Amino acid sequence: MTATQSPTEWLEPQAEHTEHTARVERLNAASLRRIVEPDDEVTGTLTKDQVVPDELLSVAGLGLDLSPEQRATLSREELASIVRFGILFEAVLMSGFAYQLALSPDVTDPRFTYALHEMGEETRHSRLFVRLVDELAPMQRNPLNSRLAARVRSRMLPLLLRRPATLDAFVLVGEEIPDLFQKLMAEHADTDSYVRDISRYHRTEEARHLAFARTTVGEHYRATSWTDRFAVRWIVPAGIVGMFDAIVQPFVYATVGLPPLRTWLRVRRLRERVAMREQCARAVLNALIDGRVLKRGRVPGLWRRVAAVDRHGRPAARPSSGS
Ligand SMILES: [Fe+2]
Ligand SMILES: [Fe+2]
Repeated sequence: MTATQSPTEWLEPQAEHTEHTARVERLNAASLRRIVEPDDEVTGTLTKDQVVPDELLSVAGLGLDLSPEQRATLSREELASIVRFGILFEAVLMSGFAYQLALSPDVTDPRFTYALHEMGEETRHSRLFVRLVDELAPMQRNPLNSRLAARVRSRMLPLLLRRPATLDAFVLVGEEIPDLFQKLMAEHADTDSYVRDISRYHRTEEARHLAFARTTVGEHYRATSWTDRFAVRWIVPAGIVGMFDAIVQPFVYATVGLPPLRTWLRVRRLRERVAMREQCARAVLNALIDGRVLKRGRVPGLWRRVAAVDRHGRPAARPSSGS
């Protein structure tokens, strides 16, 4: 509480804090009620050559004439790229949470316990994803594995760890994007049954993680530095575009003889892909509006552009820019 706040202004955050604490306690109970060990419960192997159906391939809509073998390879390479991205994202999330735990003044806060639950769940997801990548045995060159990419990550990571609101916003981004892909895979009858099982299991636990990030992002935002707030307003929307476009990385296309960069650039401009990207951005934006991070009527310009909404956060009438 600052000296300039009136008692009513103070009561409101207090009431919100209490309500949030109760919500996090419910999330703790839910995480405890059903602990899934994927090595015991999400076992199995891929059963199809083409693990993801044609409509869900990134190139759907480009009108390419690919053989069944090429489509099968591409489906595996695209899935491997998505899953590899997920492993990286979960590692970043766990570092961020561990950093916050190391600085926490109150270990009895239910948020502390929930962060431990979430990290426990992510370690199980990542182990399952590692198993899946191993089975997919991708042939793609992975730019994430380069020395330059490792150096960039090592420079960026400390900047992110010290900005809890930005970390929360990126958690929302990093969970909304794969969630949309996994929803489509889980609901499609032609997806490989093992991929469907993995998607369903992961989405159930991620729903709680999204709820936690939606709860904490506003709390962190109101108590943080201006650089953290600036990043939420201006860096995160750019991050959504970058993360969405990178989830299927360009070199997957080279594995079926397509020009990597040119195909990737065409894919990222496809109307269907742009619509999916905007859908993810809107989901994150709505969470930020609900968390009182951003205000209706004052949605920042870059958010408006990336989510294709007006200043009130309503879907804009203009045609999509595709950028
Ligand atoms: Fe996860
Ligand atoms: Fe998660």
